[in-house]
Amino acid sequence: MRRKFVAGNWKMNTDTAKARDLASQVVAGLAANPAWADKVQVAVCPPFPYLAVAAEAIKGSKVGLGAQNCHHEASGAFTGEVSPAMLKDSGCHYVILGHSERRHKMGETDAQINHKTKAALQHGLTVILCVGETLAERQEQRTLAVLKEQFHHGCHGLSREQMSNVVLAYEPVWAIGTGHNATPEQAQEAHAFLRGRASEEFGPEVASKLQILYGGSLVPDNAPQLLAQPDVDGGLIGGASLDAGRFLKIIEAGAR
Ligand code: 13P
Repeated sequence: MRRKFVAGNWKMNTDTAKARDLASQVVAGLAANPAWADKVQVAVCPPFPYLAVAAEAIKGSKVGLGAQNCHHEASGAFTGEVSPAMLKDSGCHYVILGHSERRHKMGETDAQINHKTKAALQHGLTVILCVGETLAERQEQRTLAVLKEQFHHGCHGLSREQMSNVVLAYEPVWAIGTGHNATPEQAQEAHAFLRGRASEEFGPEVASKLQILYGGSLVPDNAPQLLAQPDVDGGLIGGASLDAGRFLKIIEAGAR
């Protein structure tokens, strides 16, 4: 059985005090509901400057820490970049890679994302690899073709063993921050397709263990239906993760 996983992507939000409070409230919410923590793996992904603050707040708890990006080199003359080794050293267990905002706003390519994925895995991080189609691609009936390409290129050259440290996140670009979530049927179709691709490329055992999260306007109201889909193994939450109460409600839905 795959465990559910709910991760909060804080994006470029919070400040020192808010990061500390938010992480502490998530820790307190889980401590008050131990059954949720047994069933659902939980992580928060603050901006780089607040990783240390959040790391301190979650110390000794069941909440994991993730970053939102990294560079592929371990160190060196890369002004403004942060390496996988630095993330490990800062207490991170996870790193989000290939988020659509990085693909579409920063121009990241599948090749760069693959490079980063390999580097992050080599440094012992678990990668939350995001894939997802734009609205135009969906309207042109290209959703599955886009997912196939992004998955293939993103995971190219990884071993089966490395795939056990990869979590996929299906995030349709048109659903992110728009209030228009994918329907449970749309999410299930995409997730089942991605699991099929994983089986094709890495074998059925890898595919059956692969956690595939849904992201895109996932909120407490729609979480029960989305998280009940057989191939939806959790959520990558943007807006609703900035409010501990809403984030915890999504975790509760995942624990059902
Ligand atoms: P929203 O939940 O704000 O739509 O963001 C989803 C997302 O991009 C998570 O990575």
